[in-house]
Amino acid sequence: MIVLGIETSCDETAAAVVNDKREILANRVLSQLDDHRPYGGVVPEIAARAHLEHLDRLVAEAMDDAGVDFADLDAVACTGGPGLIGGVMVGTMTAKAIAFAANKPFLAVNHLEGHALTVRLTDDVAFPYLLLLVSGGHCQVLIVEGVGQYKRIGTTIDDAVGEAFDKTAKMMGLGYPGGPALEKIAAKGNPERFGLPRPLRGRPGCDFSFSGLKTAVRNYLDGFPVPQQTDEVKADLAASFQRAVGDTLIDRARNAVFEFMRDYPTGKTLVLAGGVAANKYLRARLTELTDQAGMKLVAPPLDLCTDNAAMIAWAGLERFRLGERDDLDFKPRPRWPLDPEAPKRPGAGVKA
Ligand code: KG4
Ligand code: ZN
Repeated sequence: MIVLGIETSCDETAAAVVNDKREILANRVLSQLDDHRPYGGVVPEIAARAHLEHLDRLVAEAMDDAGVDFADLDAVACTGGPGLIGGVMVGTMTAKAIAFAANKPFLAVNHLEGHALTVRLTDDVAFPYLLLLVSGGHCQVLIVEGVGQYKRIGTTIDDAVGEAFDKTAKMMGLGYPGGPALEKIAAKGNPERFGLPRPLRGRPGCDFSFSGLKTAVRNYLDGFPVPQQTDEVKADLAASFQRAVGDTLIDRARNAVFEFMRDYPTGKTLVLAGGVAANKYLRARLTELTDQAGMKLVAPPLDLCTDNAAMIAWAGLERFRLGERDDLDFKPRPRWPLDPEAPKRPGAGVKA
């Protein structure tokens, strides 16, 4: 079984081909970073136009890399949401056109399900597992019972963790995107120099909050006149911030692990997914928790943590082999929660 996947929900234009032997036959990702950098963040209209300009070529390259024709495909999958709607429309229309022309089944994949199922492609992880989904737009804890079966047990009440990394990095003048840059300078810093809050620590439940942490960094920075914001100060602040995020994630995930082990005694895996899962410090910190709990931490390889189309092709394949498919009149969805039953949270940063 061979599936083509397309991803266009944010600022990566991507096309990939995977098969049901868990092989990635092609994985093309074009980052639009240079297009958005002058604006310090993703500009939706620029992103949509860039997807339109590059997607056809990327699909052709991916098909070439995989050595297959459209006729060889079993299905065509694309991100159908959640995401920036202009980009999602470009990917969806392209996937529908290919599916229609080649007479193949079409699947509109939830981008978050792509992140959630990646470890089944890379590590063959069995259901059920506990998932910490940490990206630029999302920060959620979910129990993954099966394909399409998600139970959200925690979410952020304000910023997503990747957003906190990006905003903190921006304040420190580290450029865009901030997460990787902040991790890099944090490695040289003293994490004990600045006392920062651990929001919600010790409270019941698995919700997150990061906006207070961001504000605390802002207050420290304001205390230093710009000439005194040396590389050393920034590295120490970055290290202190990253440690506070690590402590917070561990504290919140500990409650989630407790709930998961109680309700799903066969489950043994904590999966870390989404762009922030590329952070090596946070990966190491979360293994402290899984070691204590007798669980295993699994995170995709770094290039499959951030947005890519292999995860979309794989999630499409998982759904397709269960007999699912979508109609060609599927409407792209700017919002698309993995667990529609989960109660709404008041925070502004909650995107699904
Ligand atoms: O999953 P993703 O590529 O896109 C979304 O669906 O949001 O995640 C992007 C986010 C950005 O906020 C980026 O700063 C963050 O992941 N990120 C990192 C690292 N690499 C990417 N955050 C912390 N450390 C990293 N190494
Ligand atoms: Zn993502």
